[in-house]
This record gives sequence, structure tokens and C-alpha cells, in this order.
Amino acid sequence: MSEIYRASTTAPVNIAVIKYWGKRDPSLNLPTNSSLSVTLSQSDLRTHTTASCSPTYNSDSLLLNGSPQDTSGSRTQACFRELRSLRSELEKSDASLPKLSTQKLKIVSENNFPTAAGLASSAAGFAALVRAIADLYQLTATPTELSRIARQGSGSACRSLFGGYVSWEMGSAADGSDSLATEVAPSSHWPNIRAIILVASSAKKGVSSTSGMQQTVATSELFSHRAKVLVPERMTKMKDAIKRKDFAAFAELTMRDSNGFHATCADTYPPIFYLNDTSRAAIRVVENINAAAGRSIAAYTFDAGPNAVVYYLAEDEGAVAGVFKGFLGEKEGWGSERGGKVKVVEGKDLDENAVQ
Ligand code: DP6
Repeated sequence: MSEIYRASTTAPVNIAVIKYWGKRDPSLNLPTNSSLSVTLSQSDLRTHTTASCSPTYNSDSLLLNGSPQDTSGSRTQACFRELRSLRSELEKSDASLPKLSTQKLKIVSENNFPTAAGLASSAAGFAALVRAIADLYQLTATPTELSRIARQGSGSACRSLFGGYVSWEMGSAADGSDSLATEVAPSSHWPNIRAIILVASSAKKGVSSTSGMQQTVATSELFSHRAKVLVPERMTKMKDAIKRKDFAAFAELTMRDSNGFHATCADTYPPIFYLNDTSRAAIRVVENINAAAGRSIAAYTFDAGPNAVVYYLAEDEGAVAGVFKGFLGEKEGWGSERGGKVKVVEGKDLDENAVQ
């Protein structure tokens, strides 16, 4: 009987506070600007993936939440190809190793968060896929080295290979060898950050990130100022805010960058609108919370969809999450290794006047 080799791993979801939006090289997934994210805790939102290979498998396959996915796409193939080539180098250097690099791969992935939450799962998905295969192949590559591969699956995935506060440095090499993720600070550096997720709509997003950002790069006149001037400045300030654990600075940069990113979407021609009335009401609620506190204790950010992620500190749980939960009602929650919770709450009844 032929042997089956197998490895399992998990990768967490990350939510950017300085957004990646734009590719300078779509085939290598090289971005037009650096980005920075906070990785949510593994117990909150994550993808669990098992990779296996066997001489008996006839073709590569990928099962996500029980449904077969196409593996012939160039992104998945790029990840497979890069990882197989690293394994093949190992096999060349040690003839006693089994020849896994020529065998077909079977990938089985499960998200621990409801698809209905409308959360982008490609970041955790590709990060878990890359790490599971790297483990299967017993590669010694570091997370930063693996980030170069995960990036080719989905740009934001490169940041999910680290916990805590993570930057993706855009790099300048044409082959993408320096477009890598790196740890800005571990989660233990500033452990009391919390995130609440407000589900404004669980519908699948209308314009995917991949195509939306291409349209913005091609048509927005505001875009190049964002990519060349604003984001580089914000990257420096954001790293500094994280080092100093300055939540007010972190919050303002996060909200400005989300607003600026959505402004370039509105400036895309024809325009792209990801936010809806509920998203805008959530922004007003955060503004009201901050006004009532007399300082920024909450920060909203939106990816390519209407759902808000609101960051705050554990000591402000009542004044931030408590306020949202108070009039929305908790729908689902996950425990967090940092002692807090990530919640998915229904946002459809959000009333911006609820906080005065
Ligand atoms: C708005 O990483 O999903 O969430 O590289 O085409 O797969 P591809 O795009 P993706 O884009 C994420 C865009 C974003 C911002 C961010 O996560 O930085």
C-alpha cells in the first residue's frame, strides 16, 4: 500500500489598518504600496488546513468547507509550483527523502467563522495552504520566506503568516523577491487590542478586491497620491504609534486610511461603492463614541465590503463593544487568547443616533 504523507496547520485572519489596494504586477501580486495589519487571534477567526500527498492521487485537489475548489487557477498553481520546487531542492540534497515533490496534493480547508459573516477568507486561506504544504514538505523556510509564496496566492495572505502587528513591505525588485511580510511587533507587545466585527451585509461582495483594485489603478486620479505620498507617510506613523502603544494615533491613522482607500474607490471610473448606509451609520456611532469619550477610543476600518471592523482597547470594552452590543444584540462570538472577544453582530438595525 502506498504511503500518504500529511500535515495540518491553522492560519489566522488579518485586518489591515493601512490597506493594500493596487498591483504594480498582477501576475506576481506585487503591490503599489506597503500595508500593515493586525492579526486576529487564532481562536477567533482562522482557517484550518490539512495538506497531503500520495503517489495514488491522480490530480491536485482542494476542498474548502466541504466544497471542491478549482486548483487550476494561476494563483494556487503558483503556490504549488514554488513549494514543490523548494521540496525538490531538498530531495536533491538528500537522496533518502521520499519524492513528494512529484506527487499530487490534496488540500482540505475549513474556516471556523461563518461564511455568512461576509469576511474575506483568502488571507487566512492561502496562508494556511502555504504553511500546511511547507510543513508536509518539511521545509525550513521562515515565515517571511513563506510570505513571498503566500503573496502570490492572495496579497493579503502574506500578512497572515505572522501574529500580532505585521507589515507587508512592497519592495522594489521586479521578481518580487523583496515584497515580503515582516513582524512589526508581536501581539504580546500590545496585547489589549480588541476587534468587534459588525456585519452590515453577509452578501458576497459585488466587486472583488482583485478586480476593484485593478479598476482603481487604471482610472482613479486620486490613487497615485494615496500610493506614493499618503500611505508611505502613514506606514511610518503607524509603526511608531504601535511601538509607543498610542491608541489615539493608531485610531486616527486607521480611520483616515480606510476613508482614503474608499475615496479612491469612489474616484474609480465608473465608481466602486463598498460601504452602504449601515456602514456609514457605524462610522457615525464610532464618531459619537469618541466624542463622548473626549478622545479616540474606537477606530473603524472597512475592507472591500460593507462590514465594519472596530478596534479598541480592552479597558474601553464597555464604552465601545458594550455600546454596539447594547442595541444590536450579539449574534456570534469567539473566545480570544488575548482575553477579549471578537464578535459578529448584526448591523442591519444600526441607528447612528443610538449614541449621543
Ligand atoms: C481591501 O488580498 O484579497 O482587504 O491580492 O487580489 O487576492 P488579491 O487581493 P486581496 O485584497 C485585500 C484588499 C483589502 C486591503 C488589505 O487587506 O490590505
